[in-house]
Amino acid sequence: MNRFPARVKMVEVGPRDGLQNEAAFLPTATKIELIDRLAATGLQVVEATSFVSPRRVPQMADSREVMAGIARRPGVSYPVLVPNMQGFEAAMAADVREIAIFGAASESFSQRNINCSIEESLARFAPVCAAAAKGGIRVRGYVSCVLGCPYEGAVAPQQVAAVAARLLELSCYEISLGDTIGVGTPGKAMAMIEAVAERVPRDRLAVHFHDTYGQALANILAALECGVATVDSSVAGLGGCPYAVGATGNVASEDVLYMLSGLEIETGVDLPSLVAAGRFIAQALGRPPASKVSLALAGRAP
Ligand code: HMG
Ligand code: MG
Repeated sequence: MNRFPARVKMVEVGPRDGLQNEAAFLPTATKIELIDRLAATGLQVVEATSFVSPRRVPQMADSREVMAGIARRPGVSYPVLVPNMQGFEAAMAADVREIAIFGAASESFSQRNINCSIEESLARFAPVCAAAAKGGIRVRGYVSCVLGCPYEGAVAPQQVAAVAARLLELSCYEISLGDTIGVGTPGKAMAMIEAVAERVPRDRLAVHFHDTYGQALANILAALECGVATVDSSVAGLGGCPYAVGATGNVASEDVLYMLSGLEIETGVDLPSLVAAGRFIAQALGRPPASKVSLALAGRAP
């Protein structure tokens, strides 16, 4: 078992990545309760919302109210997505302490998602990162489409490595490699991570898998074998990206936790509380959780 890290940090992205694609606007109070429940499970990081254009992503239009309403547990970080200075300033007004900038390894996805080229996006991130450094705000970086793009198909590992290296130069403390459309398989995931690891230290990498083709847990296992010890996931398997049509949810946090526990990898996260949080949001959305572990445990209940 020692070929895997002893401890893994789970980064919960359900309230943001999970909910951003939901068509019906979810009450702010439900989002707040979800975040508070997740933060009570032992998770250290709960990505809370996005400070993006409300016209582009209407579900995230209440980001200020969400940040004002959550309990802010000591020891838990609540990063928010920020695409530009406008978002940064709004996030600061909401007393955010950690942000995530989000770039892409594919030009077409960058254009559709944030309406600019990869190079332009990095130019937009530079003042955000400078302002963040000045204000003592931590910055996480995302690279989307690391194993495939909905518009361009295959993406070269070298291209992922190049964008990840630029985010590192911008002082991101961690870079999350996103298989936005969930097309990756373990061998390709390993090759991509190895290429990135030549330019970014492994202990600053995270993986972010969507489960469109049912490969997410296998890909996470492959990433652990490569020495990556930070894993993004979404409670109840919620998710999808408005600019990646057909991509299903992120890998379910409950399923990731079950696998990590089985490997005797420490996370500090409590499975029953996580399952309960997933059932809470699934009920609010009116459908069963897309977590196999949650469904299996429900079957066993008296
Ligand atoms: P733009 O259209 O290029 O912006 O948007 P603009 O600067 O020309 O402004 C246009 C309008 O947007 C203006 O409003 C601005 O005020 C407003 P108007 O005058 O027309 O009423 N605006 C903003 N409003 C609020 N907050 C802001 C902001 N900036 C401008 N920060 C922008 C550029 C990036 C803002 C836009 O394209 C956008 O919001 N895109 C949505 C991006 C998004 O949230 N995508 C989903 C998340 S990424 C993802 O899911 C992948 C990930 O999970 C990793 C993975 O899975 O691989 C991270
Ligand atoms: Mg995502």
